[in-house]
Amino acid sequence: MNKKLQAVILAAGRSSRFKTGKSKLLEQICSREMIIYPTKLLEKLEIPTTIVVGYQKEQVVEVIKKYHKDSINFAEQTEQLGTGHALLCSKEFWEADDILVMNGDTPLIPEWILKKLIEEHNKQDAEISFIKAHNTDPSTGAYGRVVRSEGKIRIVEPKDFSGYIEDHPFINSGIYIIKKNFLEKTISQINNNNNSNEFYIVDLIGLASEKGLKIGIVQAPFDLMRGVNTLKELWAAEHIKRSELIKYWMEKGVRFNVAQNVHIDLDVEIGPGTTIGSSAQLFSGTRIGANCEINSFCSLINCIVEDNVIIHTHCSLSNSVIKEGAQVGPFAFIKGNSVIGKNSHIGSFVEVKNSIIGEDSEAKHLNFLGDAEIGNKVTIGAGTITCNNNGYEKLKTKIEDEAFIGSSNSLVAPVTIGKNAFTAAGSVITEDVPEKALGIARSRQINKPDYAPKIKEKIKHQSSDKKNLFIGAIKTTESTQTTE
Ligand code: UD1
Ligand code: CA
Repeated sequence: MNKKLQAVILAAGRSSRFKTGKSKLLEQICSREMIIYPTKLLEKLEIPTTIVVGYQKEQVVEVIKKYHKDSINFAEQTEQLGTGHALLCSKEFWEADDILVMNGDTPLIPEWILKKLIEEHNKQDAEISFIKAHNTDPSTGAYGRVVRSEGKIRIVEPKDFSGYIEDHPFINSGIYIIKKNFLEKTISQINNNNNSNEFYIVDLIGLASEKGLKIGIVQAPFDLMRGVNTLKELWAAEHIKRSELIKYWMEKGVRFNVAQNVHIDLDVEIGPGTTIGSSAQLFSGTRIGANCEINSFCSLINCIVEDNVIIHTHCSLSNSVIKEGAQVGPFAFIKGNSVIGKNSHIGSFVEVKNSIIGEDSEAKHLNFLGDAEIGNKVTIGAGTITCNNNGYEKLKTKIEDEAFIGSSNSLVAPVTIGKNAFTAAGSVITEDVPEKALGIARSRQINKPDYAPKIKEKIKHQSSDKKNLFIGAIKTTESTQTTE
């Protein structure tokens, strides 16, 4: 615990510019809620943190607790009267010498910038310090501007600003370190005489300057200091974050064929030598090994993919494990805690659900394998399915090592196919097939010599009889109508 420094995150605002009705702090960036970016950063720097909550506080607290257990304090702002008022609501928690205050909606800020601010604040022994960024493009969003005049400095909010942006090219990033003594003395001097009728935290800077007190200022790149007030800004922030992630993995030896359209989440991991195809989507919890190919239009959610795996195009994988050297797809659907064994091959239009498949096995064409346990070196023919559902419950199919299942089989669970057994194509297997046995479950074929022309003739007559009947029916209706 850092006794000298503590943090307060402001997260009580109504998010009215989002126009979604939901607190923006719950919106996700690369599958992580926006509020978790500053909380994780402060946790990493071991700075004890208090979060001011208000609007949708239950949901905001719930999300934070999911990531932080009991290590964070919560203060409440019941009425949203502005950022200065939000900070005041955390007063009972102020105990360190310095208080680092952050807006909850600046998710891109990296560790090094916060460290630089802390360093500058200490070096200057400032009463208040803040981070500014250069930005003269008002279309990038609404920010308070750093205005200097007659040797004084203050932050002027967009609604109150009337000067030329080019004359005041720096914006306030919404991150401050304030000496507790100064804060306690000065916070009551903030008023709401402005065009928003809100109590602005930024007025503390103007007040410090008026009193001739020391102000520490650090400059940072604008992109990293972006605030997120609208859905448009959320999109921009996510775009930047995702580019950062992709560049990070490129540096670790991952090749992205079309990097600009890959979706990748924060906690995804990828091994060196792996190639990620165009429009691949790698969602939270996914870990991919080395030298894999994840081809285009694949979606992986919470999957473990070991080394040297090939996922062909258009596959959807979730909550499953693909072991070393296996191949999946194209157009395969693997889900529900399935495991595809080492060097096994799941081919095109195959669905695997809640099934364990051993090593060197293959199911390459048009299969459904549900609730199945399949051994090593098993071959499953084209079009074969497990019938795992009796209308009430899911039932198991077991296929032991080196069994060969013919094409177009229906394996009606519960059923076991023994080791080295063989089933004939087209079988509906309802009973266990013992080890090394051949299971045939279909009616025997009969060939009738020279019967094909006869059957064709018969069908022709039948269809012309039907046609005559139909025409007759129309004529009868017509004549009935004319006699009336
Ligand atoms: C704020 C700054 C602005 C700065 C910008 C940087 C003020 C008055 N302005 O503006 O100078 O350029 O950040 O991104 O501070 N909040 C509360 N309670 C409230 C109001 C807001 O907790 O009553 C929280 C919000 O949830 C949010 C943070 O404070 O996380 C900032 O509020 P927001 O309305 O986004 O401030 P900006 O207008 O962006
Ligand atoms: Ca903001």
